[in-house]
Amino acid sequence: MKIALIGYGKMGKEIEKIAIDRGHEIVLKIDITNPEDLTIANLQKADVAIEFTMPSSAASNYKLCFEAGIPVVSGTTGWLERLPEVHQLCKTLNGTFFHTTNFSLGMNIFFALNQKLAELMANRSEYTIEMKEIHHTQKLDAPSGTAITLAEGILKNIPQKKSWVNHSTSQTDELGIISVREGQVPGTHSINYDSEVDYIEITHCAKSRKGLAFGAVLAAEYSFEKKGILSMNDMLNIK
Ligand SMILES: NC(=O)c1ccc[n+]([C@@H]2O[C@H](COP(=O)([O-])OP(=O)(O)OC[C@H]3O[C@@H](n4cnc5c(N)ncnc54)[C@H](O)[C@@H]3O)[C@@H](O)[C@H]2O)c1
Repeated sequence: MKIALIGYGKMGKEIEKIAIDRGHEIVLKIDITNPEDLTIANLQKADVAIEFTMPSSAASNYKLCFEAGIPVVSGTTGWLERLPEVHQLCKTLNGTFFHTTNFSLGMNIFFALNQKLAELMANRSEYTIEMKEIHHTQKLDAPSGTAITLAEGILKNIPQKKSWVNHSTSQTDELGIISVREGQVPGTHSINYDSEVDYIEITHCAKSRKGLAFGAVLAAEYSFEKKGILSMNDMLNIK
């Protein structure tokens, strides 16, 4: 496949290595130094685009890919208030849009595990719940997009929890998410359930960006010649 990389930072560079190893060709690389090259004509030289940039540029980049008629795999986080608008645009322009807050295959299994544990805990009011996420200091958004996905999985299954907050909380209708920014940590997420008599914790710890980049390349292969809104659950057949 011919791939356009929109965003050539930490993720873009890791994706390039894996894509080339898997026999793909990078035909366009866009970052902050050459935005003038991000045109419909240039995008049409690719079979699929992979976008890891910044929250402020994500939605307009997706629109351009829909207009160019190529599928776009979206990794950027921190822009999700515009997700309904982007989904609508994808439908209107007959585009292809594959977004996840986390492309790691293990994390997507962890999403399912998190929901199952929350379902089992739905009526266990003796447990308090808290989430902690740790990332490198260059990360712009907090909580991480992955933490928000995990929080949504808990809110959906525990009716007593009405919203998440980005700090520790003792309000029983809130889910506290603690965000820590330190060193070069690629991404660690844990959820704990604490009672007077025991403590349960589940943790996903990314060892590098390789798993995230690999998942993004698989998503690009999956998106090739498909239309509509695609997801990791579709690709991995997770119900
Ligand atoms: N979904 C996932 O699995 C996943 C995994 C890791 C990171 N992320 C997210 O992906 C994004 C990028 O992460 P990163 O670690 O590669 O960041 P980074 O800062 O290393 O790279 C961002 C790149 O985007 C470029 N850029 C900025 N504005 C641009 C614009 N207007 N047009 C084109 N390029 C532009 C920068 O020049 C840079 O090359 C972040 O939002 C991060 O949270 C998502």
